[in-house]
Parts: sequence; C-alpha cells; structure tokens
Amino acid sequence: MCTLKTIVFDHFKELSSKTNGPEFKTYDAFPPVVTTKANFDDLLVPADHPSRSYSDTFYVTSDIILRPHTSAHQTQLLRQGDMAFLVAGDCYRRDEIDASHYPIFHQMEGVKVFDPKDLSSDPAVAEKQVMDDLKASLEGVATKLFGQRNMRWIDAYFPFTHPSAELEVEYNGKWLEVLGCGKIHHKIMENVGLGDRQGWAFGIGLERLAMALFDVPDIRLFWSDDPRFLNQFQAGKITKFVPFSKYPMTSRDVSFWYDPEKFHDNDFFAIVREAAGDCVENVQKVEEFVHPKTKRCSKLFRINYRSLERTLQTEEVNVWQENVRRVLSQQPGIELR
Ligand code: DAH
Repeated sequence: MCTLKTIVFDHFKELSSKTNGPEFKTYDAFPPVVTTKANFDDLLVPADHPSRSYSDTFYVTSDIILRPHTSAHQTQLLRQGDMAFLVAGDCYRRDEIDASHYPIFHQMEGVKVFDPKDLSSDPAVAEKQVMDDLKASLEGVATKLFGQRNMRWIDAYFPFTHPSAELEVEYNGKWLEVLGCGKIHHKIMENVGLGDRQGWAFGIGLERLAMALFDVPDIRLFWSDDPRFLNQFQAGKITKFVPFSKYPMTSRDVSFWYDPEKFHDNDFFAIVREAAGDCVENVQKVEEFVHPKTKRCSKLFRINYRSLERTLQTEEVNVWQENVRRVLSQQPGIELR
C-alpha cells in the first residue's frame, strides 16, 4: 500500500511543479475515528443511504464511526483553507467475505480547488475546465500505476460530486475500476465557505489495485507476516507475486431461518468474522428460499476455511463453526436448521 501511496503522492508533486499549479499537501496519519457529520452529513449523503446503516459501517457510538472512506476528511481540510491536498488512510467497512474484501482496507483522497481567475466566467465552460483538469490528472496517475493502457470514463453517481465519473483501465483483458471522482458539489463548497469556487475530488481504493498490479490472489495476504510473501516485495517497486503452495481448504455449511426485516447478509458476515477470524477465506451463499406455506425465509451459507500459514486442524474449525452457530442462534429472529 505504501508503494502505491508513494506513486500517487509523487505524481501530484510532479504535476504541481510541471504546471506551476498549487502544491498538494499530503496527510497520512489522521486517526480513523470520525464523526457521522464529517463522514456523511457534510458530504450530503442522504439520511436513508445504505452506507449509514449499522450493517455497513462500524459504529463506535451513534455519531462516531470508523471511517468507511477517506472522503471523511474533505470538508474539515477545506474549512481550514487547504486548496489542494491528498489524504491516505486505513478505512473500515462491514462487507462480504471473499478474496477481494477485508474489513480494513486503504484509500486515498485527492482534492483541488481552483482560483476563480483561472476559470472561465461562463459556468458551463468552467465546469468543463475543472473536469478536463481532473481527468487529465487522473489519467496521469493511472498511467504511472499501470503503464500505457486503454482507459475509459464511465458516468457515475456520488452524493458529494456533480458531475461524477469513474475511471476504468483495461488490464489483463478486463476493465478494472480504478477510482471515483467528480466536481465537488456546489452545496459542499457553499457550506465550507467557498461558494464562489469550484474544485474536484477523487477517491482511490488501494487493495484492489495492488491485487491487480502485484498479482496477489487473496486480500488477506497483505496482512500476512509469512516471509514467503513479504520477502517477495521491495518498497517502491511493483513486482509480480509468485504463488507458493496453498494449505488445504475445509468447508462447513450453516442454514437458518431468519427475519428479512431484522437480518442482513452483512450481519452474517460480521458474525463469521468475529467468530472465526482471518481463517475464513470466503463465504458463499449456496441457497435461499421462502417456504411456500409458512412464508418463512431460509438461507444456506458455505464457510470456506483456509489459513495462509498452516494446515487447519478439524477440531479448531469445529470450534469456529460452533461459535458461528452459537452467536447466530442468539440473533433476533434467527433459528438454526
Ligand atoms: N468515497 C468514495 C468511495 O469510497 C470514493 C470517491 C468517489 C471519493 C468520488 C471522492 C469522489 O472524493 O469525488 O467509494
């Protein structure tokens, strides 16, 4: 993550000096505990947006959370007068369990606010100037990371930007989503006292990019202290991971009746994470049905256990599985089958 962060930081440093543009201040040590106001309200995230729910975000109290994105720092920095900045940090989300999702991951956020005298007085032209500058800067970042590739821009929606876009890069024959971005919503600019200005913002998730660039097949490897993994990499260099042999996988199924009003798939994933930790490689939903007579809802999940460091013992897998079943059976509306 540090390698990618440095590439992005350096790109913007170079860009500022080449174009005589503003210097980007860099931040990478903000604590990840933020307010719901900074993370959601200030970014115009609607009250009923799913990202606010307890099943998506880790709440510390009802108005303090672990940041689910580095955008959480945008308005605080704009208010303190930073007109160009980059923020890198660890982010936290409740999510599914598979090779590319882990409850902790890393993101970077970038923001640039323009001096009105550098933009046209015609709002439509000014908007195009902002978006063109944004796209050129980000295509430059993507080229630094991926080399010369086919790229495409997709229209997107984020509550905090308008217009919004996503950049995709063609990599190994597939379109890989690299980042989200847009022109900062004028209401945000007004709220931070910059109503007469325009600016752009972007956000990049680092793990997915690192998985593609370094050929890393499982996100948990980034947290491994296995020397067979760590010794393959040098700070500052993008090199390909050479897989080492995997330890065997053990699967266990669990099925249960649940109340769709009270129980979300992410609640199940959170229970599995807590009860069985990092030895869960992924969780698959195998079956889901509504009983034709009673209308009760049932789900069957398969939990695939595998350690990256050792062969798991049947007994320890049994203990985790029992933990999952026990915690699950205590949830409202759940009945194990
Ligand atoms: N915060 C967004 C996310 O986590 C990423 C993002 C999109 C950040 C657009 C931005 C932006 O600053 O303008 O998915």
